[in-house]
Amino acid sequence: MSMGPGGRGHGSRVSGADFEAQRELNRQAPRVAGLGARIAQLFHPYRSQLVLIVSLVMVSAALGIVPPLLTQRVFDDGLFPPDGVPNMPVLLVLVAAMLVIFVVSQALAIVQTRFTARVGNQVMGDLRVKLFSHLQAMELGFFTRTKTGVIQSRLQNDVGGVANVLSNTVSSVIGNTVTVIAAFVAMLLLSWQLTLIALVLLPVLVAGQRKVGQIRARIAGETQESLSEMSAITQEALSVSGVLLAKTYSRQRAETERYADENRNQIELQVRQAMSGQLFFGVVQVFMSAVPAIIYLVSGWLIASAQGQGFDPGITAGTIVAFTTVQARLLFPMMALMRVTLDLQTSRALFSRIFEYIDLEPEIVDAPDAKEPSSDPAVAGRIEFDRVRFRYPDVPDDTRPTIDDVSFTVEPGEFIAFVGASGSGKTTIGMLLPRLYEVSSGAVRYGGDDVRDLKHESLMERIGVVTQEPYLFHATIAENLRYAKPDASDEELEQAARLANIHDTIATFEHGYDTVVGERGYRLSGGEKQRIAIARVLLKNPRVLVLDEATSALDTLNERVVQRALDDARSGRTTVAIAHRLSTIVDADRIYVLDAGRIIEQGTHDALLELEGAYAALYSQQHS
Ligand SMILES: Nc1ncnc2c1ncn2[C@@H]1O[C@H](COP(=O)(O)OP(=O)(O)OP(=O)(O)O)[C@@H](O)[C@H]1O
Ligand SMILES: [Mg+2]
Repeated sequence: MSMGPGGRGHGSRVSGADFEAQRELNRQAPRVAGLGARIAQLFHPYRSQLVLIVSLVMVSAALGIVPPLLTQRVFDDGLFPPDGVPNMPVLLVLVAAMLVIFVVSQALAIVQTRFTARVGNQVMGDLRVKLFSHLQAMELGFFTRTKTGVIQSRLQNDVGGVANVLSNTVSSVIGNTVTVIAAFVAMLLLSWQLTLIALVLLPVLVAGQRKVGQIRARIAGETQESLSEMSAITQEALSVSGVLLAKTYSRQRAETERYADENRNQIELQVRQAMSGQLFFGVVQVFMSAVPAIIYLVSGWLIASAQGQGFDPGITAGTIVAFTTVQARLLFPMMALMRVTLDLQTSRALFSRIFEYIDLEPEIVDAPDAKEPSSDPAVAGRIEFDRVRFRYPDVPDDTRPTIDDVSFTVEPGEFIAFVGASGSGKTTIGMLLPRLYEVSSGAVRYGGDDVRDLKHESLMERIGVVTQEPYLFHATIAENLRYAKPDASDEELEQAARLANIHDTIATFEHGYDTVVGERGYRLSGGEKQRIAIARVLLKNPRVLVLDEATSALDTLNERVVQRALDDARSGRTTVAIAHRLSTIVDADRIYVLDAGRIIEQGTHDALLELEGAYAALYSQQHS
């Protein structure tokens, strides 16, 4: 048989060494109720393809019974018939039949692979989009408390693993089971006595293989640990602060010794790992050759003792050749089946991790009777904080709230500003307004309505935020601007850019508005980035503008340029400016001074100076 001892190639994707590690990972997977039914539901749209796949696998595996039987006939009737002369016509027919079967099974395998790959990737694709859109709906707090890497890993690795599960686990289980059964049927048809022998020997081999696998897993685990220990030492000792510490405390020799110790351990483990790998293949090889050899011996004994007693055991040369071939094909499918439980657990773990995320309830959702924000010019753009208390999620309850009893009102078109020390809660207030976080108590109102009663998307449309660290995509400037208004014309882009005082700068770029910016693109200066962010928010044309420290990254000259942009941007809107540089907000209708989440002073620039309090102190600090 041309397929070799690997059979149909339904190998397990978990090698012996990863075995324990994978087990541990699976144990850590979250518990999800009704997992089986939910997985089945994912495959529901593809059920006809699934039926086809299963049928294909079964047919091609059943075809596997035939070649060994043909081999037997090739030897006994074709090559070495009782009259001693090869029977060419019979041989031709048998060989032709064998070839046809090989070709047909390979063709079936190709068709089957095509369908499994399609269904697997389709299900994975569905899941990926579902998860992606669900995550987008999660509140901001979810992202601040979850590592980006974790989220990415769920989308990439876990969902990606799902396709693997289908194309490997499912077809491996079905394919290997059918292969094993087919092989056993063929063996029984060839000789029940030899089948008995094989039945005794195979489990010994599989058990031996398993034992070696466990040893390898343990060594691999230790190697991994030792490796991470070494990299921890490296990181600690070879970082700037680590070197500084080691030097100032004269610990260099000790550090090197610690490293050398772990290194010796590592060398030992690597050698053992290499040896255990060889041992693994050695065990498999010995058994693969030993079983046929034992079968020859037993066959000889059976034939001899049968002849002594004058009956025919039915064991011909053809039987022995065919039998040893087919039993060799059993080996790998059997080993793979022994790991099926682990594979199934792995797929359950993968699905659990994905479902866990899909089941996350976004905390900030529209109320069932959510309404549109008011567009009455008398109130649209009016903002009210009413005794607002807020504590970031995950911050213990017994600590002081981040925002503590803050009340203020901004009439449509007014310009107010927040100032205060770093960490006093300015950015946080800017986040509460568009309901990026939910207040702990009190209320935030827009146009007279509690933001919790409004449609969140509509509220967002009316509020533009220029964040403290403006974020630009890795795309052209035009694309970055159009993020705010996809159908904006080139003229509109230019107009917004002029207003933000960035058009002239963009015009000097070689590719103008088509200059690619962002992480791997053209490196814009902090001030340019901010002005592009301002142009972007102007394109959005919101009723309320929140400018978080939009001038922090600027030198004085740049600051004035941005300042002018902001002055223009403010007209006709409610503006909440958050500022460190007081020079940018002297014109504000009201200035609120925040301290540790509380408003401690408020008034116009002049009034606050006269008060000679915190604001005045801040001001004289900056203008001394
Ligand atoms: N996601 C978060 N989770 C927990 N605590 C946070 C979070 N974001 C901010 N904080 C804390 O809330 C407090 C207020 O932060 P905020 O960003 O509002 O300060 P800020 O006044 O804008 O400061 P800066 O002038 O430095 O920008 C700080 O003590 C900060 O550590
Ligand atoms: Mg801030």
